[in-house]
Amino acid sequence: MKAAVRYFSKLGNTKTIAEAISEGVGVKAVSITDEPELPENVDVLFLGGAPYANIMAPELRAYAENLSPGLVGKVVLFTTSNWSRRTVYALRKILKERNIPVDPEHFYAHMLNIKGRAEAAKEFGKRKLLC
Ligand SMILES: Cc1cc2nc3c(=O)[nH]c(=O)nc-3n(C[C@H](O)[C@H](O)[C@H](O)COP(=O)(O)O)c2cc1C
Repeated sequence: MKAAVRYFSKLGNTKTIAEAISEGVGVKAVSITDEPELPENVDVLFLGGAPYANIMAPELRAYAENLSPGLVGKVVLFTTSNWSRRTVYALRKILKERNIPVDPEHFYAHMLNIKGRAEAAKEFGKRKLLC
């Protein structure tokens, strides 16, 4: 299975979780600001971000809106925040409208417990590669 991990992070929380998932998956975590497009097809794309002032970062929205359906087998979402349900819902909606499959399960880490969730994020990455 070929995988990629992409994230948007202003303050570093989502980056920390992305790097933990990456460790489990065995690929490098890359910020969407450093690489705005996927360079090759992947079976699984782990995609993460956070809400700021009640909405997901516009950079993350634009990435999901421009993601090419032909490049991705499925997307697995992850978020960090105080409360991310709306961001996850919005991302799912954008991706589904573009016919990109989204795994029913996502990974969540509360912003006050990022380090405490790193091991679980690593295991989540490993597990999601297998199913
Ligand atoms: C300016 C600002 C606005 C935020 N607004 C929200 C919000 O509306 N809802 C929420 O759940 N968390 C909010 N947060 C918390 C962030 O989503 C949370 O700290 C997240 O982990 C940040 O991810 P990052 O470190 O990868 O940038 C906000 C944080 C900042 C700095």
